[in-house]
Amino acid sequence: MARRKLIAGNWKMNGGRNSISELRGIAEAARAHVAVDVAIALPATLIGLAAEQVPELPIGAQDVHAVDKGPHTGCISAGMIREAGARFSIVGHSERRCDQHETDAEVRAKAEALHRCGLGAILCVGEQLADRDAGRAEAVVTEQLAGSLPADASGEWLSIAYEPIWAIGTGRTPTVEDVAAMHGAIRARLHELIGDAADGVRLLYGGSVTGDNAGELLAAGDVDGALVGGASLTAAKFAPIIAAGAALA
Ligand code: PGA
Repeated sequence: MARRKLIAGNWKMNGGRNSISELRGIAEAARAHVAVDVAIALPATLIGLAAEQVPELPIGAQDVHAVDKGPHTGCISAGMIREAGARFSIVGHSERRCDQHETDAEVRAKAEALHRCGLGAILCVGEQLADRDAGRAEAVVTEQLAGSLPADASGEWLSIAYEPIWAIGTGRTPTVEDVAAMHGAIRARLHELIGDAADGVRLLYGGSVTGDNAGELLAAGDVDGALVGGASLTAAKFAPIIAAGAALA
């Protein structure tokens, strides 16, 4: 099945009102490369402003709470980000799994909350370096996937991002062969879990993607896009990654 590539940015805890010009630049790059989908996950404080000022660029959040409302100080629900203008959210990013001790069950519940609200989800999985060194990377990642996969995982609303934790923000990436092998393992496990619907789920690679390596990483087997942190913060760095995806479409 042909899947459109998705080039998604994750601004993490970066950006302010003066970043709207970068988002405009990213939207311009997206317009120049309509063969790929482009999206940006912003800090919650910027979602409303960005959705208003750059309406053609799909804006998302980086996390949501699993329930719709209630006594959860500091948390934001899927309905709230939707009202602010978000169209999707990342869930289960390793920085949250590690820093906030999020479990697979919580990540699954968050993805389901997004789906209830008609929003998309980018669900992250990835191994620690010790797992890879011990030869258990695929086992760890496919188990995380099975534990975090939402009940209705079929359809375009869901993407899975494979992000080896040791590759995030480090400038290190797995080999193209390792990426292809892991994406193949994820696709195979998805088939076991949801049957043919697995073919509709986009698998993104994330971890130190740049304009220099995007071409080869995006060309690897079963890679349907990228989740990009540092190199998504400026249009100058992100545009070449969008172009690399479009060149493969
Ligand atoms: P990075 O981050 O591109 O800065 O490595 C990727 C991510 O954490 O999503």
